[in-house]
Amino acid sequence: MCGIIGYVGKQKAAPFILEGLKRLEYRGYDSAGVAIFQNGSFSVLKKIGRVANLELEVAKVNLGGTYGIGHTRWATHGGVTDFNAHPHLSSDGKFALIHNGVIENYASMKKYLLGKEYTFASETDSEALCNLIAYHYAKEPVTPQQNRFLTSVRKALLHAEGTYGIVVMCLDHPGEMVAARKGSPLILGLGDGENIIASDVSAIIARTQSVVYLNDGEIVYCTAKEFQITTLALEAVSPTVAKVTWNVADAEKGAYAHFMEKEIFEQPLALENTMRGRFSGDASTANFGGLNTTPIEFRGIERFMFCACGTALHACMVTEHLIEQYARTPVECDYASEFRYRNAPLFRNTLFFVMSQSGETIDTLAALREAKRKGYKVLAINNVVGSSIAREADGGIYQHVGPEIGVASTKAFTSQLLIGAMLALYIGRMRDMSFGEGVRYVTALKSAPNLVRKALEQAPHIREIAKRYAHHADMLFLGRMSLFPIALEGALKLKEISYIHAEGYPAAEMKHGPIALISEHCPSVFFAPRGEILNKIISSMQEIKARKGPVIAIITEGVELPEGLADELIVIPDCHDAVLPIVASIPVQLLSYYIAIERGCDVDKPRNLAKSVTVE
Ligand code: M6R
Repeated sequence: MCGIIGYVGKQKAAPFILEGLKRLEYRGYDSAGVAIFQNGSFSVLKKIGRVANLELEVAKVNLGGTYGIGHTRWATHGGVTDFNAHPHLSSDGKFALIHNGVIENYASMKKYLLGKEYTFASETDSEALCNLIAYHYAKEPVTPQQNRFLTSVRKALLHAEGTYGIVVMCLDHPGEMVAARKGSPLILGLGDGENIIASDVSAIIARTQSVVYLNDGEIVYCTAKEFQITTLALEAVSPTVAKVTWNVADAEKGAYAHFMEKEIFEQPLALENTMRGRFSGDASTANFGGLNTTPIEFRGIERFMFCACGTALHACMVTEHLIEQYARTPVECDYASEFRYRNAPLFRNTLFFVMSQSGETIDTLAALREAKRKGYKVLAINNVVGSSIAREADGGIYQHVGPEIGVASTKAFTSQLLIGAMLALYIGRMRDMSFGEGVRYVTALKSAPNLVRKALEQAPHIREIAKRYAHHADMLFLGRMSLFPIALEGALKLKEISYIHAEGYPAAEMKHGPIALISEHCPSVFFAPRGEILNKIISSMQEIKARKGPVIAIITEGVELPEGLADELIVIPDCHDAVLPIVASIPVQLLSYYIAIERGCDVDKPRNLAKSVTVE
C-alpha cells in the first residue's frame, strides 16, 4: 500500500512525479503529496483525496526543480488529513521523506525525539523516522570518506522495526537521493541522465525500461548520473539491471471507461499469453520453464499446500479441486495470513505453492518465508516479474498477463485459474492421467480464450440484469464443487466494488443457516452447470424460490431449468471441467462491474482498499 516515487535528473520533477503518482494511485488514494527542491528549500504540497486534487494545488504554484519526491497514501497510522499526508519534513526542515510500510517502534522513537526537542506535525509513524534521520545527521560524527546524508539514513534505519520503502532528500545535499527497503517494494529506474526510485515499474515505464529491483535490507544512494547500492551492514551489492517487457500503453485504459472493464475484456488475450509455449510437443501435458523441480521430485510429492490471500486464494481453492480430481493428490489451501502464525504441522513430502498477482502481498510473502524456514521448497504463481515473492521463491510460474491496475482482480484471477488447471494436468500426467485424456484436456484449455470471448458477449444482457438488482443491500452467490470458489469470488467482487453485502456458499449449505437471510430483498446468484449434481442445485434453487428469493441463474448451454424457477438467466458455453471455473467467472465479474457502475461507485479505486497489500 502507498505509492512512492523519487526523481533526480534534468527534467522538471513535479510533472513527472504527478504522472507517476497517478500510475501508482491504485496502491492507495487517501491523500497525495510532493516535495520539490528548488531555490535552496523544499516546496511541499499535500492534499487529501486523489492525485487529481494535488495536481490542482500544484498548478497554482511554480514548481521548477529537477529533484523531488511524491507519495500517494493508504492510511495506517493517523487519519486521512493533509498533515498526515506525505512527504514529511524533519522538524529542523533538513529532510523530506516518503514512506510505504509501518514503523512498528515509532512510539518509542517519537518519545525519545520529543525529549531531544524534535517536534511533530503529524500522527504518522513515518515522521518519527524522518526526525530520527535528522537526529543522527545532527549528532553523529562521520569520517571524511563517508557521506553524512547516507550515513544518517542508514543509522536511523538500524533502529527501525517494521517495514519500509523510503526515499529521502536532504537540504544540504541537493541532487542526492537515498532510498531503502525492508518488506515494502522498491525499484530503481535507470534513465538517461536521470534516476528514479519508485514502488513499482508502472511509475517509471514512461522514462525507462531498465530497472534494478532492490532487495530487503538494501540502501541505495543516487544522483542524476550515478548510483550505489549496499546493504545496511555496508556490504557492497552488485546490481542486476533487468529490462521491463511491457510498455506505457499496457498500463493505460485506452478507450475503456475503467481499468477493470479493460481487464475483463482483455481476458481472452491474457489467457493466450498465460498458455503460450507451455504445452508439450505432443499436446498431452503442460510444460513450465521455471519450476526448478525435476519430474522425479514432483513424483515424490504426497501433498501440495497452497497459500494466498483474497482472490488469489479463491484461485488456489479451484486448483485444489482440479489437482485432487485429475492428479489424485491431496491438496490443502490456507489463508496466508493464518498460515504464517498458526504453526501448522506439515507432511514431509509436501510441495508448497504461493499465489499472488502482485508478488508483494505481505502475508503471502510471510507464508512463503515460514514454509522455507521449515525447510520446504516453495514455488510461486505470480504476475509481476521481479516482485519480492518471485525473487524469494525457489521457482515458479509467471502469469504473463501484463499489468493489472484495477483494484478488483479479474484477468489475473482467470490466469491463475488457468495455471492451476495446467498444473493439475502436469501433475496428473505424471500419475494416472492417460495420453488420450491429456490430449483432450490440452485441447480444452486451448479453447478457453474463445469460450471466454463467447461468455463476454453476454455483457449487454448482464448490464440489463445489473440495472434491476443494483439497489439491493444483500446478495448471495451459490456454487458447488469447483464453482464454490467462484461463488466466493463473485461475492468478493461485488462487495469490494459496489459495497453491497454479499456472501458465497456451497449451494447445499444454504439450508444450514444462510437460508434465514432469504426474502424478496435478497437475490441469489446460482451456478448451475450441466453435470451429475445439477438436480441437487435445482433443488437448492427451489428452496430459495419457495421463500420468495429472486434467483439469477448462470447455466451452461443445454441446461434446462424448471419453468419460472430463475428470474434471470445467463447462459455460458458448456466446456471441460478444467475450463468451467474460468468461463463461469466472466458473468460474475461483469455483474459486479455493472452493478457498481449503476450505483455510481469508483470501480477502479474502491473505498478503503489498495491493490497490493504490503502491510499486515
Ligand atoms: O497481489 P495478490 O494476488 O497477492 O493480492 C491478494 C489480494 O489482496 C487480492 O486478490 C484482493 O483480494 C483483490 N482486491 C481482489 O479483487
